[in-house]
Amino acid sequence: MKPGVLLDTTQPLDLDAYRARDGYQALTRVVREWTPARVIDEVKRAGLRGRGGAGFVAGKKWEMAAAKKGPVKYLCVNASEGEPGTEKDRSLIRLNPHQLIEGAAIAAYAVGATHVYIFLKARFVDEFHSLNRAVTEAMAAKLIGPGALLPVDVEPFRGPDAYIAGEETAMIEALEGRPPRPRQKPPYYPIQHGLFGKPTLVNNAETLYNVPLIITRGADWYKQRGTPTSPGTMLFTLSGDVERPGVYELELGTPLRTLLDDCGGGVKAGRPLKAIFPGGPSHALLTEKQLDVALDFDSLKAVGSSLGTAGVMVYDDRTCMVAVALRFASFYADGSCRQCPPCFMGTAHIRDLLQAIEDGRGTGKEVARIKQICNLIRGRGYCDLINSAVRSVESVLHHFTPEFEAHVSQGRCPLKPAAA
Ligand SMILES: Cc1cc2nc3c(=O)[nH]c(=O)nc-3n(C[C@H](O)[C@H](O)[C@H](O)COP(=O)(O)O)c2cc1C
Repeated sequence: MKPGVLLDTTQPLDLDAYRARDGYQALTRVVREWTPARVIDEVKRAGLRGRGGAGFVAGKKWEMAAAKKGPVKYLCVNASEGEPGTEKDRSLIRLNPHQLIEGAAIAAYAVGATHVYIFLKARFVDEFHSLNRAVTEAMAAKLIGPGALLPVDVEPFRGPDAYIAGEETAMIEALEGRPPRPRQKPPYYPIQHGLFGKPTLVNNAETLYNVPLIITRGADWYKQRGTPTSPGTMLFTLSGDVERPGVYELELGTPLRTLLDDCGGGVKAGRPLKAIFPGGPSHALLTEKQLDVALDFDSLKAVGSSLGTAGVMVYDDRTCMVAVALRFASFYADGSCRQCPPCFMGTAHIRDLLQAIEDGRGTGKEVARIKQICNLIRGRGYCDLINSAVRSVESVLHHFTPEFEAHVSQGRCPLKPAAA
Protein backbone atom coordinates (compact mmCIF):
# COMPACT_ATOMS: atom_id res chain seq x y z
CA MET A 1 0.00 0.00 0.00
CA LYS A 2 1.36 3.44 -0.96
CA PRO A 3 1.48 6.18 1.70
CA GLY A 4 -1.61 8.39 1.50
CA VAL A 5 -3.24 11.11 3.56
CA LEU A 6 -5.02 8.91 6.07
CA LEU A 7 -2.29 6.33 6.21
CA ASP A 8 1.03 7.99 5.52
CA THR A 9 3.29 5.10 6.43
CA THR A 10 4.33 1.67 5.23
CA GLN A 11 6.09 0.82 8.51
CA PRO A 12 4.29 0.25 11.83
CA LEU A 13 4.47 3.40 13.99
CA ASP A 14 5.16 3.26 17.72
CA LEU A 15 4.42 6.23 19.99
CA ASP A 16 7.68 8.06 19.25
CA ALA A 17 7.27 7.63 15.50
CA TYR A 18 3.65 8.74 15.68
CA ARG A 19 4.56 11.78 17.74
CA ALA A 20 7.30 12.67 15.26
CA ARG A 21 4.42 13.03 12.75
CA ASP A 22 2.49 15.42 15.01
CA GLY A 23 0.65 12.53 16.66
CA TYR A 24 -1.43 13.45 19.73
CA GLN A 25 -1.18 17.18 18.92
CA ALA A 26 -4.88 17.18 18.05
CA LEU A 27 -5.85 15.54 21.34
CA THR A 28 -3.63 17.92 23.30
CA ARG A 29 -5.11 20.92 21.51
CA VAL A 30 -8.75 19.98 22.00
CA VAL A 31 -8.39 19.02 25.65
CA ARG A 32 -6.44 22.19 26.52
CA GLU A 33 -8.06 24.74 24.24
CA TRP A 34 -11.33 23.59 22.69
CA THR A 35 -14.77 22.99 24.14
CA PRO A 36 -16.45 19.70 23.19
CA ALA A 37 -18.99 21.73 21.18
CA ARG A 38 -16.19 23.26 19.10
CA VAL A 39 -14.79 19.80 18.31
CA ILE A 40 -18.20 18.61 17.16
CA ASP A 41 -18.62 21.74 15.08
CA GLU A 42 -15.31 21.23 13.30
CA VAL A 43 -16.05 17.56 12.54
CA LYS A 44 -19.50 18.57 11.29
CA ARG A 45 -18.04 21.32 9.14
CA ALA A 46 -15.58 18.82 7.66
CA GLY A 47 -18.58 16.77 6.51
CA LEU A 48 -16.91 13.48 7.56
CA ARG A 49 -19.18 10.53 6.75
CA GLY A 50 -19.06 7.16 8.50
CA ARG A 51 -16.89 4.52 6.83
CA GLY A 52 -18.75 1.56 8.38
CA GLY A 53 -21.24 1.19 5.53
CA ALA A 54 -24.10 3.65 5.80
CA GLY A 55 -22.16 6.92 5.36
CA PHE A 56 -23.96 8.72 8.19
CA VAL A 57 -22.53 12.19 8.90
CA ALA A 58 -20.24 11.68 11.92
CA GLY A 59 -20.59 15.18 13.38
CA LYS A 60 -24.39 14.85 13.47
CA LYS A 61 -24.14 11.56 15.33
CA TRP A 62 -21.71 13.11 17.80
CA GLU A 63 -24.07 16.02 18.35
CA MET A 64 -26.91 13.62 19.19
CA ALA A 65 -24.66 11.64 21.55
CA ALA A 66 -23.40 14.80 23.27
CA ALA A 67 -26.99 15.96 23.86
CA LYS A 68 -27.74 12.85 25.95
CA LYS A 69 -27.44 13.46 29.67
CA GLY A 70 -25.86 11.10 32.20
CA PRO A 71 -22.57 10.55 34.05
CA VAL A 72 -21.64 7.45 32.02
CA LYS A 73 -21.47 7.27 28.27
CA TYR A 74 -19.63 4.84 26.07
CA LEU A 75 -17.84 4.97 22.75
CA CYS A 76 -17.67 1.69 20.86
CA VAL A 77 -15.19 1.66 18.02
CA ASN A 78 -16.29 -0.81 15.41
CA ALA A 79 -13.18 -2.54 14.10
CA SER A 80 -14.89 -5.83 13.52
CA GLU A 81 -14.56 -5.67 9.71
CA GLY A 82 -16.43 -8.80 8.67
CA GLU A 83 -17.64 -7.88 5.17
CA PRO A 84 -15.97 -10.19 2.63
CA GLY A 85 -13.37 -8.35 0.56
CA THR A 86 -12.58 -5.65 3.13
CA GLU A 87 -9.22 -5.31 4.87
CA LYS A 88 -8.89 -1.60 5.50
CA ASP A 89 -9.52 -1.19 9.24
CA ARG A 90 -7.02 -3.95 9.97
CA SER A 91 -4.42 -2.39 7.66
CA LEU A 92 -4.79 0.92 9.47
CA ILE A 93 -4.60 -0.66 12.92
CA ARG A 94 -1.56 -2.79 12.14
CA LEU A 95 0.39 0.19 10.83
CA ASN A 96 -0.82 3.05 12.99
CA PRO A 97 -2.74 2.03 16.12
CA HIS A 98 -2.11 5.37 17.85
CA GLN A 99 -4.11 7.35 15.31
CA LEU A 100 -7.17 5.28 16.16
CA ILE A 101 -6.61 5.79 19.88
CA GLU A 102 -6.21 9.54 19.32
CA GLY A 103 -9.33 9.76 17.10
CA ALA A 104 -11.35 7.75 19.61
CA ALA A 105 -10.11 9.84 22.54
CA ILE A 106 -11.13 13.05 20.73
CA ALA A 107 -14.58 11.57 19.98
CA ALA A 108 -14.93 10.54 23.63
CA TYR A 109 -14.00 14.05 24.75
CA ALA A 110 -16.51 15.58 22.31
CA VAL A 111 -19.49 13.50 23.42
CA GLY A 112 -18.51 13.09 27.09
CA ALA A 113 -17.78 9.34 27.01
CA THR A 114 -15.70 7.96 29.85
CA HIS A 115 -15.03 4.47 28.44
CA VAL A 116 -13.94 3.42 24.97
CA TYR A 117 -14.10 -0.16 23.70
CA ILE A 118 -12.33 -1.02 20.47
CA PHE A 119 -14.22 -4.02 19.18
CA LEU A 120 -12.25 -6.54 17.10
CA LYS A 121 -12.95 -10.05 15.96
CA ALA A 122 -11.35 -12.85 18.02
CA ARG A 123 -9.21 -13.80 15.03
CA PHE A 124 -7.65 -10.32 14.73
CA VAL A 125 -4.83 -11.31 17.07
CA ASP A 126 -2.07 -9.09 15.60
CA GLU A 127 -4.34 -6.04 15.60
CA PHE A 128 -5.33 -6.73 19.22
CA HIS A 129 -1.68 -6.88 20.31
CA SER A 130 -0.81 -3.81 18.29
CA LEU A 131 -3.64 -1.84 19.96
CA ASN A 132 -2.79 -3.12 23.44
CA ARG A 133 0.85 -2.08 23.02
CA ALA A 134 -0.25 1.35 21.83
CA VAL A 135 -2.72 1.80 24.72
CA THR A 136 0.04 0.89 27.19
CA GLU A 137 2.39 3.42 25.56
CA ALA A 138 -0.28 6.16 25.54
CA MET A 139 -1.10 5.51 29.19
CA ALA A 140 2.57 5.54 30.22
CA ALA A 141 2.94 8.87 28.40
CA LYS A 142 -0.05 10.17 30.41
CA LEU A 143 -2.07 10.88 27.30
CA ILE A 144 -5.06 8.70 28.26
CA GLY A 145 -6.15 6.90 31.43
CA PRO A 146 -6.47 7.91 35.08
CA GLY A 147 -4.71 11.20 35.88
CA ALA A 148 -3.71 11.71 32.22
CA LEU A 149 -4.35 14.49 29.72
CA LEU A 150 -7.72 12.84 29.02
CA PRO A 151 -8.92 10.53 31.80
CA VAL A 152 -10.63 8.06 29.51
CA ASP A 153 -10.34 4.25 29.61
CA VAL A 154 -9.52 2.67 26.26
CA GLU A 155 -9.94 -1.09 26.03
CA PRO A 156 -9.35 -3.25 22.96
CA PHE A 157 -11.85 -6.13 23.02
CA ARG A 158 -11.90 -9.33 20.97
CA GLY A 159 -15.50 -10.30 20.29
CA PRO A 160 -17.01 -13.16 18.29
CA ASP A 161 -15.75 -13.84 14.78
CA ALA A 162 -19.31 -13.92 13.39
CA TYR A 163 -20.08 -11.37 10.65
CA ILE A 164 -23.22 -10.28 12.48
CA ALA A 165 -21.13 -9.15 15.48
CA GLY A 166 -20.19 -6.06 13.40
CA GLU A 167 -23.78 -4.81 13.44
CA GLU A 168 -23.74 -2.10 16.08
CA THR A 169 -26.38 -3.46 18.46
CA ALA A 170 -25.10 -7.06 18.08
CA MET A 171 -21.67 -5.69 18.99
CA ILE A 172 -23.17 -4.12 22.12
CA GLU A 173 -24.80 -7.45 23.05
CA ALA A 174 -21.42 -9.16 22.65
CA LEU A 175 -19.70 -6.52 24.80
CA GLU A 176 -22.30 -7.25 27.47
CA GLY A 177 -21.37 -10.94 27.32
CA ARG A 178 -24.25 -12.29 25.27
CA PRO A 179 -24.39 -13.87 21.81
CA PRO A 180 -24.13 -11.22 19.07
CA ARG A 181 -27.75 -10.68 18.08
CA PRO A 182 -28.99 -7.32 16.78
CA ARG A 183 -31.53 -5.46 18.88
CA GLN A 184 -34.73 -4.03 17.50
CA LYS A 185 -34.40 -0.39 16.39
CA PRO A 186 -36.46 1.45 17.56
CA PRO A 187 -36.22 1.50 20.53
CA TYR A 188 -32.63 0.25 20.94
CA TYR A 189 -30.71 2.92 19.08
CA PRO A 190 -27.25 2.90 20.69
CA ILE A 191 -27.36 6.65 21.28
CA GLN A 192 -30.47 6.17 23.43
CA HIS A 193 -30.15 2.67 24.97
CA GLY A 194 -26.65 1.48 24.21
CA LEU A 195 -24.03 -0.43 26.15
CA PHE A 196 -25.32 -1.36 29.64
CA GLY A 197 -28.38 0.77 28.88
CA LYS A 198 -26.30 3.96 28.60
CA PRO A 199 -25.98 6.42 25.70
CA THR A 200 -23.38 4.96 23.34
CA LEU A 201 -21.67 6.37 20.30
CA VAL A 202 -20.67 3.79 17.68
CA ASN A 203 -18.21 4.68 14.97
CA ASN A 204 -16.25 2.62 12.52
CA ALA A 205 -12.46 2.58 13.03
CA GLU A 206 -11.65 4.29 9.71
CA THR A 207 -14.16 7.04 10.50
CA LEU A 208 -12.16 7.89 13.62
CA TYR A 209 -8.81 7.79 11.81
CA ASN A 210 -9.92 10.96 10.02
CA VAL A 211 -10.52 12.92 13.21
CA PRO A 212 -6.95 13.90 14.27
CA LEU A 213 -6.34 15.17 10.72
CA ILE A 214 -9.51 17.28 10.79
CA ILE A 215 -8.47 18.83 14.10
CA THR A 216 -4.80 19.53 13.32
CA ARG A 217 -5.27 20.69 9.74
CA GLY A 218 -8.81 22.04 9.91
CA ALA A 219 -12.14 21.28 8.24
CA ASP A 220 -11.31 23.53 5.28
CA TRP A 221 -8.15 21.56 4.51
CA TYR A 222 -10.09 18.31 4.88
CA LYS A 223 -12.77 19.41 2.42
CA GLN A 224 -10.19 20.15 -0.29
CA ARG A 225 -10.19 16.42 -1.04
CA GLY A 226 -13.17 14.41 -2.18
CA THR A 227 -16.51 15.86 -3.27
CA PRO A 228 -18.73 18.43 -1.52
CA THR A 229 -20.98 15.68 -0.11
CA SER A 230 -18.29 13.00 0.33
CA PRO A 231 -15.20 14.87 1.52
CA GLY A 232 -11.84 13.33 2.25
CA THR A 233 -10.13 10.13 1.18
CA MET A 234 -11.17 6.53 1.74
CA LEU A 235 -9.42 3.18 1.82
CA PHE A 236 -10.53 0.86 -0.99
CA THR A 237 -9.83 -2.85 -0.69
CA LEU A 238 -9.48 -4.17 -4.24
CA SER A 239 -9.75 -7.94 -4.66
CA GLY A 240 -10.62 -10.70 -7.10
CA ASP A 241 -9.57 -10.96 -10.76
CA VAL A 242 -7.27 -7.97 -10.77
CA GLU A 243 -3.53 -7.73 -11.42
CA ARG A 244 -2.61 -5.89 -8.22
CA PRO A 245 -5.11 -6.51 -5.42
CA GLY A 246 -4.58 -4.46 -2.28
CA VAL A 247 -5.71 -1.58 -0.11
CA TYR A 248 -5.57 1.79 -1.90
CA GLU A 249 -6.30 5.20 -0.46
CA LEU A 250 -8.07 7.49 -2.92
CA GLU A 251 -9.98 10.75 -2.83
CA LEU A 252 -13.70 10.15 -2.70
CA GLY A 253 -15.11 10.93 -6.14
CA THR A 254 -12.27 9.15 -7.98
CA PRO A 255 -13.62 7.18 -10.98
CA LEU A 256 -13.95 3.44 -10.44
CA ARG A 257 -11.86 2.98 -13.61
CA THR A 258 -8.90 4.72 -11.94
CA LEU A 259 -9.01 2.29 -9.03
CA LEU A 260 -9.29 -0.72 -11.31
CA ASP A 261 -6.74 0.28 -13.97
CA ASP A 262 -4.27 2.73 -12.42
CA CYS A 263 -4.12 1.19 -8.94
CA GLY A 264 -5.05 -2.40 -9.68
CA GLY A 265 -3.35 -2.77 -13.08
CA GLY A 266 -6.64 -3.78 -14.72
CA VAL A 267 -8.44 -7.10 -14.89
CA LYS A 268 -6.07 -10.05 -14.49
CA ALA A 269 -4.30 -11.13 -17.69
CA GLY A 270 -6.14 -8.39 -19.61
CA ARG A 271 -9.38 -10.38 -19.71
CA PRO A 272 -12.74 -8.62 -20.16
CA LEU A 273 -14.53 -7.48 -17.00
CA LYS A 274 -17.77 -9.25 -16.22
CA ALA A 275 -18.90 -7.68 -12.95
CA ILE A 276 -17.54 -5.44 -10.21
CA PHE A 277 -19.06 -5.00 -6.76
CA PRO A 278 -17.97 -1.50 -5.60
CA GLY A 279 -19.30 -1.88 -2.06
CA GLY A 280 -18.76 -5.56 -1.33
CA PRO A 281 -21.38 -8.29 -1.73
CA SER A 282 -24.02 -6.31 0.20
CA HIS A 283 -24.51 -3.81 -2.61
CA ALA A 284 -25.43 -3.95 -6.28
CA LEU A 285 -22.80 -4.89 -8.84
CA LEU A 286 -21.75 -2.72 -11.78
CA THR A 287 -20.62 -3.72 -15.26
CA GLU A 288 -17.96 -2.53 -17.75
CA LYS A 289 -20.24 0.24 -19.02
CA GLN A 290 -20.38 1.82 -15.55
CA LEU A 291 -16.64 2.08 -14.85
CA ASP A 292 -16.70 5.87 -15.09
CA VAL A 293 -18.92 6.19 -12.04
CA ALA A 294 -17.32 8.22 -9.24
CA LEU A 295 -16.50 6.38 -6.04
CA ASP A 296 -18.45 8.47 -3.55
CA PHE A 297 -21.58 7.98 -1.48
CA ASP A 298 -23.98 9.88 -3.74
CA SER A 299 -22.70 8.88 -7.19
CA LEU A 300 -22.91 5.18 -6.33
CA LYS A 301 -26.38 5.64 -4.86
CA ALA A 302 -27.44 7.35 -8.09
CA VAL A 303 -26.53 4.21 -10.08
CA GLY A 304 -28.40 1.95 -7.63
CA SER A 305 -25.36 0.70 -5.71
CA SER A 306 -23.49 1.93 -2.64
CA LEU A 307 -19.99 2.54 -1.39
CA GLY A 308 -20.55 0.27 1.63
CA THR A 309 -17.17 -0.31 3.24
CA ALA A 310 -15.41 0.09 -0.12
CA GLY A 311 -14.54 -3.56 -0.59
CA VAL A 312 -14.29 -3.60 -4.40
CA MET A 313 -14.58 -7.12 -5.86
CA VAL A 314 -13.65 -7.78 -9.49
CA TYR A 315 -14.84 -10.72 -11.64
CA ASP A 316 -13.61 -11.52 -15.15
CA ASP A 317 -15.53 -13.01 -18.09
CA ARG A 318 -14.89 -16.60 -17.00
CA THR A 319 -16.84 -16.18 -13.78
CA CYS A 320 -20.05 -18.14 -13.24
CA MET A 321 -22.40 -15.53 -11.79
CA VAL A 322 -24.71 -18.22 -10.41
CA ALA A 323 -21.75 -19.46 -8.38
CA VAL A 324 -21.04 -15.90 -7.20
CA ALA A 325 -24.68 -15.39 -6.17
CA LEU A 326 -24.59 -18.76 -4.41
CA ARG A 327 -21.38 -17.93 -2.54
CA PHE A 328 -22.80 -14.62 -1.31
CA ALA A 329 -26.19 -16.16 -0.46
CA SER A 330 -24.42 -18.88 1.56
CA PHE A 331 -22.46 -16.20 3.39
CA TYR A 332 -25.65 -14.41 4.44
CA ALA A 333 -27.52 -17.62 5.27
CA ASP A 334 -24.62 -18.79 7.46
CA GLY A 335 -24.25 -15.28 8.93
CA SER A 336 -27.88 -14.89 9.99
CA CYS A 337 -28.13 -14.88 13.79
CA ARG A 338 -31.41 -16.80 13.37
CA GLN A 339 -33.56 -14.60 15.58
CA CYS A 340 -35.73 -13.17 12.75
CA PRO A 341 -37.58 -15.98 10.88
CA PRO A 342 -37.79 -14.08 7.56
CA CYS A 343 -33.99 -13.71 7.67
CA PHE A 344 -32.88 -17.20 8.62
CA MET A 345 -35.56 -19.01 6.62
CA GLY A 346 -35.52 -16.65 3.64
CA THR A 347 -31.74 -16.52 3.21
CA ALA A 348 -31.47 -20.31 3.55
CA HIS A 349 -34.23 -20.80 0.99
CA ILE A 350 -32.55 -18.47 -1.51
CA ARG A 351 -29.26 -20.33 -1.01
CA ASP A 352 -30.92 -23.73 -1.59
CA LEU A 353 -32.62 -22.53 -4.77
CA LEU A 354 -29.34 -21.15 -6.10
CA GLN A 355 -27.58 -24.39 -5.19
CA ALA A 356 -30.16 -26.33 -7.22
CA ILE A 357 -29.56 -24.11 -10.26
CA GLU A 358 -25.78 -24.31 -9.92
CA ASP A 359 -25.89 -28.11 -9.54
CA GLY A 360 -28.00 -28.46 -12.71
CA ARG A 361 -31.08 -29.55 -10.75
CA GLY A 362 -33.10 -26.45 -11.64
CA THR A 363 -36.66 -26.90 -12.87
CA GLY A 364 -37.10 -23.40 -14.29
CA LYS A 365 -39.19 -22.13 -11.40
CA GLU A 366 -36.32 -21.12 -9.11
CA VAL A 367 -35.62 -17.61 -10.42
CA ALA A 368 -39.25 -16.52 -10.01
CA ARG A 369 -39.30 -18.08 -6.55
CA ILE A 370 -36.10 -16.26 -5.51
CA LYS A 371 -37.60 -12.95 -6.66
CA GLN A 372 -40.78 -13.70 -4.71
CA ILE A 373 -38.82 -14.51 -1.53
CA CYS A 374 -36.79 -11.31 -1.92
CA ASN A 375 -40.02 -9.30 -2.04
CA LEU A 376 -41.40 -11.15 0.98
CA ILE A 377 -38.39 -10.76 3.27
CA ARG A 378 -37.04 -7.31 2.35
CA GLY A 379 -36.98 -5.04 5.44
CA ARG A 380 -38.33 -7.78 7.70
CA GLY A 381 -35.41 -8.28 10.06
CA TYR A 382 -34.02 -6.38 13.02
CA CYS A 383 -30.94 -5.42 11.02
CA ASP A 384 -29.76 -4.86 7.48
CA LEU A 385 -28.31 -8.36 6.91
CA ILE A 386 -31.57 -9.48 5.33
CA ASN A 387 -31.51 -6.51 2.95
CA SER A 388 -27.89 -7.18 2.05
CA ALA A 389 -28.83 -10.73 1.07
CA VAL A 390 -31.71 -9.43 -1.07
CA ARG A 391 -29.69 -6.66 -2.76
CA SER A 392 -26.89 -9.06 -3.57
CA VAL A 393 -28.96 -11.77 -5.31
CA GLU A 394 -31.33 -9.29 -6.99
CA SER A 395 -28.45 -7.42 -8.55
CA VAL A 396 -26.87 -10.58 -9.99
CA LEU A 397 -30.27 -11.65 -11.32
CA HIS A 398 -30.90 -8.21 -12.80
CA HIS A 399 -27.77 -8.38 -14.97
CA PHE A 400 -27.36 -12.11 -15.57
CA THR A 401 -30.78 -13.83 -15.75
CA PRO A 402 -29.87 -15.55 -19.08
CA GLU A 403 -26.96 -17.25 -17.30
CA PHE A 404 -29.37 -18.68 -14.72
CA GLU A 405 -31.66 -19.86 -17.52
CA ALA A 406 -28.74 -21.50 -19.35
CA HIS A 407 -27.87 -23.48 -16.20
CA VAL A 408 -31.44 -24.78 -16.08
CA SER A 409 -31.81 -25.55 -19.80
CA GLN A 410 -28.40 -27.28 -20.06
CA GLY A 411 -28.69 -29.00 -16.67
CA ARG A 412 -25.19 -27.82 -15.73
CA CYS A 413 -22.97 -24.79 -15.47
CA PRO A 414 -22.35 -23.65 -19.07
CA LEU A 415 -19.04 -22.10 -18.06
CA LYS A 416 -17.55 -25.37 -16.85
CA PRO A 417 -16.34 -27.97 -19.37
CA ALA A 418 -18.92 -30.75 -19.90
CA ALA A 419 -18.15 -34.05 -18.14
CA ALA A 420 -16.60 -36.64 -20.48
C1 LIG B 1 -24.73 -7.36 9.30
C2 LIG B 1 -23.97 -6.09 9.54
C3 LIG B 1 -22.60 -6.14 9.76
C4 LIG B 1 -21.88 -4.96 9.99
N1 LIG B 1 -20.52 -5.04 10.16
C5 LIG B 1 -19.81 -3.91 10.40
C6 LIG B 1 -18.40 -3.97 10.62
O1 LIG B 1 -17.79 -5.04 10.57
N2 LIG B 1 -17.74 -2.79 10.85
C7 LIG B 1 -18.41 -1.58 10.91
O2 LIG B 1 -17.79 -0.54 11.15
N3 LIG B 1 -19.73 -1.50 10.70
C8 LIG B 1 -20.44 -2.62 10.46
N4 LIG B 1 -21.81 -2.54 10.30
C9 LIG B 1 -22.43 -1.18 10.43
C10 LIG B 1 -22.63 -0.83 11.90
O3 LIG B 1 -23.88 -1.36 12.34
C11 LIG B 1 -22.63 0.70 12.14
O4 LIG B 1 -23.54 1.30 11.25
C12 LIG B 1 -21.26 1.36 11.96
O5 LIG B 1 -20.28 0.74 12.75
C13 LIG B 1 -21.35 2.84 12.33
O6 LIG B 1 -20.12 3.49 12.14
P1 LIG B 1 -19.95 4.77 11.18
O7 LIG B 1 -21.13 5.68 11.42
O8 LIG B 1 -18.66 5.37 11.60
O9 LIG B 1 -19.94 4.26 9.77
C14 LIG B 1 -22.55 -3.71 10.03
C15 LIG B 1 -23.93 -3.66 9.80
C16 LIG B 1 -24.63 -4.84 9.55
C17 LIG B 1 -26.11 -4.77 9.31
